[in-house]
Amino acid sequence: STMYTSFPEDFLWGGATAANQLEGGFDAGGKGLSTADVITAGTHTISRRITPVLEAGSNYPSHEAVDFYHRYKEDIALFAEMGFKVFRLSIAWSRIFPNGDDAQPNEEGLQFYDQVFAELKKHQIEPLVTISHYEAPFHLAEAYNGWADRRTIDFYVRYCEVIFNRYKDSVKYWLTFNEINILTMPFGTFMAGAIMPQGNAELGTSAAGDNEQLRYQALHHQFLASAKAVKLGHTINENFQIGCMIAYMCSYPLTCNPEDVLLAQRKDNLSNFLCSDVQVRGAYPGFATRYFKEKNIELQQEAEDGQTLRDGCVDFYTFSYYSSTCVSAAPDQEAIGGNLSMGLKNPYLQASAWDWQIDPQGLRWSLNHIYNRYGIPMMVVENGLGAVDTVETDGSIQDGYRIDYLREHVKTMGEALEDGVELIGYTPWGCIDLVSAGTGEMKKRYGFIYVDKDNEGNGTLDRSRKDSFYWYKNVIASNGTQL
Ligand code: BG6
Repeated sequence: STMYTSFPEDFLWGGATAANQLEGGFDAGGKGLSTADVITAGTHTISRRITPVLEAGSNYPSHEAVDFYHRYKEDIALFAEMGFKVFRLSIAWSRIFPNGDDAQPNEEGLQFYDQVFAELKKHQIEPLVTISHYEAPFHLAEAYNGWADRRTIDFYVRYCEVIFNRYKDSVKYWLTFNEINILTMPFGTFMAGAIMPQGNAELGTSAAGDNEQLRYQALHHQFLASAKAVKLGHTINENFQIGCMIAYMCSYPLTCNPEDVLLAQRKDNLSNFLCSDVQVRGAYPGFATRYFKEKNIELQQEAEDGQTLRDGCVDFYTFSYYSSTCVSAAPDQEAIGGNLSMGLKNPYLQASAWDWQIDPQGLRWSLNHIYNRYGIPMMVVENGLGAVDTVETDGSIQDGYRIDYLREHVKTMGEALEDGVELIGYTPWGCIDLVSAGTGEMKKRYGFIYVDKDNEGNGTLDRSRKDSFYWYKNVIASNGTQL
């Protein structure tokens, strides 16, 4: 039964995107090549490939994406029509520093975001900016091995300094790294860590430069970079709210066997809380130290690192939530996909066409669970259903399945608010159709706004309103009371 009466008056309803999945214009306006620009399209069953040298004839979905670079005015007007209070976007680092280690920023890149923020302001939409969403200037990967190299911290902080100063009056909410905990998994090696493969490689394999020692070293560098950004940001504008962003992997024990329960806790600790403990509390938790010992991982740290982490605790906690999976100590249980992580099938849940289990109650559970640990304001900055949409002959897109998914998740957020969780915003993923990060497809759509483009890159790029567009508009207008 629904207990809640309404969302707080100033609740930040909106939608979320990322530059390399949205903008296109990959070499426009002086932009440098990014790590995302060398990853080919795949499908549900075929892996995306990293090709350090671009191949003629291969499909690189970030190059055009859905062309927000040229269509941002139209898109922002559509967001405004839905009543968005907030729009989550990322800045493409290589628009600002084309090589990452340039002496001066690229003015044309800075101007692009000036225009985007001005357009948002015109519509009274608050930007929520991810500073690094699964990309870095490709040159940093090639010349430094990305985040594996400590020098990358300084390049990132310099980038932050430039954008914080430039946009200090137009942006209040910042996230330092998208899904920073993805570096605890092989999939994050290149996509998040900018660690180079030896030649071409499938994303998320050991050939993609994966090595656990290196990944945790890269993660350590990102923690330091994040902490330094938080500290610096607050000196540039004390009103900045700077948050962490975690791919929250909600993992239930498959049974009440204590072995399963302990294993689920271990996964929660290592996959989720390791990163947020560092970013929210300013220090590595004990279970991280133990894990590093078990795996013979030796982090290279400088004497000042502990203080740096303590001085850069985030102001709020944000996360992505799509699905949940189970954990079992018993061998041979049935596996299933999820948001970049595999887990076990839950017999009580249905899954999407991409095998992500649908679990609205898991969102309420996660919100409570995380809030109980940190007690700081939270935002759900990604959530949604990746699905195949059909355009009917009359042009309508009847995505009732997406409405059902979102409705149930909004309900459980309401319940979590009633439970006392300080939830301040909700930005469902891919509010306009965009390129899938996991598979590189267009076919896996999340949007309220349909974009006419297919997996092969064909289409007019025209925008149209899905049924969910009108539904969400009403949700916002009624502040979550009409679902
Ligand atoms: C998150 C990422 O992992 O999930 C997004 O932050 C991504 O970049 C989203 O697009 C959905 O995943 P996918 O693979 O369906 O695009």
